[in-house]
Amino acid sequence: MDVDRVYGSSLFTKDKFLFYERLPSTQDRAKELIKNGVGRPGYVIVADEQYRGRGRFRRVWSSRMGESLIFSFITEKIPLLSMRTALSVTETLEEECGLRAEIEWPNDIVVNGRKICGILIETERNLAIIGVGMNINETVLLLENATSVRIETGIPASREAILSSFLSIFESNLTRENIMDCVREYLSFIDRYVEIETENGIVRGEFINLGEDGEIIIRTESGTIAGFLPGEAERVHKLSAPLLAGTDRQRG
Ligand code: BTN
Repeated sequence: MDVDRVYGSSLFTKDKFLFYERLPSTQDRAKELIKNGVGRPGYVIVADEQYRGRGRFRRVWSSRMGESLIFSFITEKIPLLSMRTALSVTETLEEECGLRAEIEWPNDIVVNGRKICGILIETERNLAIIGVGMNINETVLLLENATSVRIETGIPASREAILSSFLSIFESNLTRENIMDCVREYLSFIDRYVEIETENGIVRGEFINLGEDGEIIIRTESGTIAGFLPGEAERVHKLSAPLLAGTDRQRG
């Protein structure tokens, strides 16, 4: 990555940018920095290649040298961080690449139904570490249901421009008040039936809305209304048809 072509913002100033050619995980590096007393809000750790990247629920996140945008940044813990981050990614993809992306609640960003970006939020001491893995210039992806900016637009994209744009959009979304209204506009679940994998098993139902705390609200198969916060849902699948107990179904 050409470090000189990444712009800072008032929170993410360039003196707090750390670039690495190769790292096990930008997320782990950010954690170490906080533990050492160096890392504070505004630090951004970027790697051209990450060989032990982590995803949500202990999944592996692999990336190839120079093709993905791989970074972690440190912020204060404020409400709705996961929604603010997801919204900032979709807005960046729209503004910078002309792509209409959707938020597959809670933390996946999809274009034409295929995953283009994953987000991992963790805490260390009293700070949040937000890890973002965006597929940018890949022409072939190992995962079946994945895509990249280049695949969607047909042209190579600048990782530096996308990172600069994301940081400035995220900074303005940190203090935006109507965040949930904006998030709802990009949701991929509108008018859909969903299947939510939780720690206690699978719950299916009709998507109703997102609540003001970022929770997904559904009408379950048994007719009750239930809400799940981002951390409570391991995976969420869209279903293409209403579910009636005992009927066949298809995943959307
Ligand atoms: C997911 O979809 O499960 C989240 C994936 C998050 C991957 C990013 S890449 C940068 C940062 N470093 C990591 O080790 N993970 C996150």
